[in-house]
Amino acid sequence: MFRIVRKQILNPSVTLMEVEAPLIARKAEPGQFIILRVNDEGERIPLTIADYDREKGTVTIIFQIVGKTTEILGNLEEGDAILDFVGPLGVPSHLEGVKKAAVIGGGLGTAIAFPQAKKLHSLGAEVDAIAGFRNKELIILEEELKSVSNRVFITTDDGSNGNKGFVTDVLKKLLEEGNKYDLVIAIGPLVMMKAVSNLTKQYNIKTIVSMNPIMIDGTGMCGGCRVTVGGKIKFACVDGPDFDGHEVDFDEAMRRQLMYKKEEQVSLDAHKC
Ligand code: FES
Repeated sequence: MFRIVRKQILNPSVTLMEVEAPLIARKAEPGQFIILRVNDEGERIPLTIADYDREKGTVTIIFQIVGKTTEILGNLEEGDAILDFVGPLGVPSHLEGVKKAAVIGGGLGTAIAFPQAKKLHSLGAEVDAIAGFRNKELIILEEELKSVSNRVFITTDDGSNGNKGFVTDVLKKLLEEGNKYDLVIAIGPLVMMKAVSNLTKQYNIKTIVSMNPIMIDGTGMCGGCRVTVGGKIKFACVDGPDFDGHEVDFDEAMRRQLMYKKEEQVSLDAHKC
């Protein structure tokens, strides 16, 4: 069992949990994820490692309450335990040698972008962080990003934080101003990662996106997390989740993401009855 040592509500639908998992904390790197099962009747869900503390032996996860499992998880409190917590899984992000990077998070994707920015900062890279949210109530991790970035730009779709627009608007402006990035990392909704990748392709800037498809076993066996990258089939759990944004077939990924939407809703509705 894996004890929750800290729980923090980041916004009405996003929760942070710091979980005691010393063996995972010892090896975890940015870009990797865990698969958890809340109880013995639960499904397995993948969650990206948002942070880790090797000394305390804890791993931080941040999740949005979108379905039955995340709702049950979100109802756990400090001191409660999670039944299974497996990881670190996936290939760590390759961040060595980067001099100047733009790290972009969309919504909950900001939680996954944060450890990337932190690692780049620790390696001496100059980091511009850009994070976009639907409105100001949903903004998360602004202070944390500031602590590991040279500049932070927060946008909202509705302009409620005084900075209306999309992350691509900010990135485009920074590129037009002559900022030379040797790496762009984009993590968030598929539509946003696609838009960023289309933009950076025009400037020929290496771009990493983090794919978050449906996962079941997390070991490359079931094929559930299949994505097409550069015309080849890859499995996000063992080949990713980071991929070259200029090579990902985002349209296929968007179709696959919707495959079980109806079943997910039925499961959530049944849980609430
Ligand atoms: Fe089964 Fe990746 S989750 S192959």
